[in-house]
Amino acid sequence: MLKRRGFIKAGTFAAGGLLVSASAGKAAEGAFELPELGYGFDALEPYIDAATMEIHHGKHHATYVLKLNEAVAGAADLKGKSLPEILGNLSEIKDKSLMATVRNNGGGHWNHSFFWKTLAPAGKSGKPSDDLTAAINGEYGSLAKMQEAFGAAAASRFGSGWVWLNEKDGKLKISSTPNQDAPIMKGVVADGELGKPLLGLDVWEHAYYLKYQNKRPDYVAAFWKVVDWEAVSKRLG
Ligand SMILES: [Fe+2]
Repeated sequence: MLKRRGFIKAGTFAAGGLLVSASAGKAAEGAFELPELGYGFDALEPYIDAATMEIHHGKHHATYVLKLNEAVAGAADLKGKSLPEILGNLSEIKDKSLMATVRNNGGGHWNHSFFWKTLAPAGKSGKPSDDLTAAINGEYGSLAKMQEAFGAAAASRFGSGWVWLNEKDGKLKISSTPNQDAPIMKGVVADGELGKPLLGLDVWEHAYYLKYQNKRPDYVAAFWKVVDWEAVSKRLG
C-alpha cells in the first residue's frame, strides 16, 4: 500500500499533476504490495502476541516487499510478472546477485502472504475437513501424529526457515525450506520436491522470540491453536 502510494505520488509529480490515474496505473504495474492480515495484531493472543505480529507484518514482511519492488524496478525482464511466475523461473535470472535478492525477498513475500492466510483468530481455528482428515489419517495415522512429525521437522530446521505440509502426488508430505525459500520455487533447492503447500509455519526467530525466546517447540504447539483449518482444507485437491 505504501509502495503504491509512492508510485502515485511519483506519477503525479512526473505528469505535473495531470492524468494521475493513468500514470499511477502504469507506474504501479508489476509492483507488489503488503497484504492486509485480515485480522487484528492481537487476534492471535495469547498464542502469538500482538507485538510480534505487528513487527512481523509491518517491519519484516514490509521490508521483503520493499526490497522485492526495488529489485524488480531495476530488472526489465521481471517487470509485469506475477510472483509465482518469477519464483517459478528463478534460474532464468542470470545476474546472480539479483537472483539472490529476488529469491530472498520474493520468497519472503510469498511465504508470509501464505502464512497470514493460514492463521485464524484464537477460538476460530475450526478443524480439518473430512477429506483432509482422511488424508492426514491415511498418511500419519492421526492429526496428533502428523503434528508430532511436523514439530520434529520444525525442531530440526537449523537456523531460519519454514516447515510445510504439502500435497504431492496425491499424498501428504512434511518438509522444510531454509531461509525464505518457498515451496513454489523452481531452479533452487526446493526444485520440484515439495508439491502443493497446504500449510506452512515460519520458524525464523523473528516469528516467536519476543514471547517464546529459544523455546521453538512451545511456539509450534501454540501455532496449532490458531491454524485456520477451513483455509488449509480448501487448499487440498
Ligand atoms: Fe517471518
